[in-house]
Amino acid sequence: MTRNGFVSAVAAAGLALAVALPIVGHAQGKSQKQNGYNVAPVPLNTSGLNPALVGEGSYIVNAQGGCNDCHTAPSYAPGGDPFAGEPEAINQERYLAGGGIFGPFTSRNLTPRGNGLPAGLTLAQFIEAMRHGTDFKSSTPRILQVMPWPVYGKMNDRELEAIYEFLRAIPCIGSAMRCGS
Ligand code: HEC
Repeated sequence: MTRNGFVSAVAAAGLALAVALPIVGHAQGKSQKQNGYNVAPVPLNTSGLNPALVGEGSYIVNAQGGCNDCHTAPSYAPGGDPFAGEPEAINQERYLAGGGIFGPFTSRNLTPRGNGLPAGLTLAQFIEAMRHGTDFKSSTPRILQVMPWPVYGKMNDRELEAIYEFLRAIPCIGSAMRCGS
């Protein structure tokens, strides 16, 4: 190969890589978002929200976080309990609406209130609860029990924000007063 031939071969390879890398990066981002939408057990309302973040949040909540195990009671619809060998069907009617009993503690309703805030929490409060277990519903300082915030708190800001965005997209469950705007 001549020197010029070598130079152009290297340049061509570099160009191919420069073109290929963003495609690979894009495909990964897209699949996580798409997987997120595929594993969401309820219809999502993304109006006014960031759809990519909602998809990522759905993936974290439904394929990694296990929030349904504690925050949906019962977690599965009648006939849809995989632990009983049944084809899985998550309990849509109570999805993330809380009420799971853990000794003296009860899991909370994470669905968005009428004002759009999941569990009534602002993003900053949500991140603080996920990082430090701060209970914003208590009038005296209190640490959330049972809730695995010491684990979830290790996620980065973007991941916690994605969870929050997903929780804003799920249906509100509760009284007309809770869900009304
Ligand atoms: C092992 C059971 C368990 C799992 C899994 C779990 N939680 Fe919780 N969570 C709880 C319980 C119980 C409480 C209430 C704790 C208390 O009252 O001390 C709670 C409270 C919360 C709160 C406070 C809500 C409020 O009203 O202030 C948030 C936010 C929360 N959980 C989010 C999540 C998210 C998001 C996930 C999944 C990534 C998750 N939890 C997974 C058990 C769990």
